[in-house]
Amino acid sequence: MTAMSAKTTMTVPLLDLQAQYAELKTDLDAAVHRVLDSCRFIGGPEVSGLEEEIARYSKCTHAIACASGTDALLLALKALGVGPGDEVVTTAYSFFASAGVVANVGARPVFVDIDPRTYNLDPHRLEGAITSRTKAVIAVHLYGQCCDLDAVKAVCDKRQVHLIEDAAQAIGAEWEGNRAGSVGDFGCFSFFPSKNLGGAGDGGMITTQNAELADRVRLLREHGAKPKYYHSVVGTNSRLDALQAAILRVKLRHLDRWSEARARNAALYHRLFEGARVGRPYHDPRTRHIYNQYVIRLPQRDALRQHLSERGIGTEVYYPVPLHLQQCFATLGYTPGTMPESEGAANETLALPIYPELSEEQIRYVASTVQEFVAS
Ligand SMILES: Cc1ncc(COP(=O)(O)O)c(C=O)c1O
Repeated sequence: MTAMSAKTTMTVPLLDLQAQYAELKTDLDAAVHRVLDSCRFIGGPEVSGLEEEIARYSKCTHAIACASGTDALLLALKALGVGPGDEVVTTAYSFFASAGVVANVGARPVFVDIDPRTYNLDPHRLEGAITSRTKAVIAVHLYGQCCDLDAVKAVCDKRQVHLIEDAAQAIGAEWEGNRAGSVGDFGCFSFFPSKNLGGAGDGGMITTQNAELADRVRLLREHGAKPKYYHSVVGTNSRLDALQAAILRVKLRHLDRWSEARARNAALYHRLFEGARVGRPYHDPRTRHIYNQYVIRLPQRDALRQHLSERGIGTEVYYPVPLHLQQCFATLGYTPGTMPESEGAANETLALPIYPELSEEQIRYVASTVQEFVAS
């Protein structure tokens, strides 16, 4: 077989969950059977155990499990009393949930453009977006790197608005030694399977340092009932089930090793892309970056994506349409050109495979296939 044909037959998926399962199969199967044998499917020791472990891991005094990262954000907003007539400021460049939850509680999302180096909310533009109606800021830690939490927190404190950290992509990430989710009023995490800590389905977690807010979230996730069948507020059913908790507890023991492997893979890509006509991710030295995504940038993004796909390499665009231009938010009145950095990122960014089980050979193959495209 020639070097060229060997190259063209290699496949590198964007994510390989089979490899992770193969590594942990014995422990994961045992955890699932432990729950099945116990028949404790809702609540119970697996859920409270995971809550304690995530609180410790995220350096928070409280962690409350819920059904998804979206619900974590929704419950955080409800616990802070955000509703109709209120505004919530967030980034224009994130997964839809970061803004969708605001509309879902009847409030108005207000968007801020990003810092093009980190793709996170630009703190210099934050204060200008805050009005007398602003109740909270949702700051997203995109791709696994914390936003400038010092600057964002300073603005929130100065203007007396709540801070919710959307840490769905950033479990274990740090800003100046502070864990994602430990700085704001709330941290919101997702256990969607593609996250660094992913379940076998949906799941989420809310962290806080405030006992009163923690109690409020616990109440809201169980239909506002305390005691059972007595409802002081209208909540919802948003619980993490014990099967997910048991699976996540097994995986949590491996999370740091996986995040370090992702960072090593990123460092290798970084070296291999040295001098290439492709924008490499910027790692702010004040952060611990957990590389949930490794995102490169170039104007011919769609053609590169096609080129990689034809050579067996999986990629994704996170995200093709910035939030302020989503059709469902047309009534908010944003027009193209109002968030130029977010719009540019949406047109030019591409996520490459970065998962921990990637081999060096696979990374070199991906990098050389990108290089081949940009050099042509
Ligand atoms: C930044 C961000 N926020 C919120 C969410 C919502 O999490 P979930 O999919 O668990 O509802 C995600 C998930 O993809 C996300 O990436």
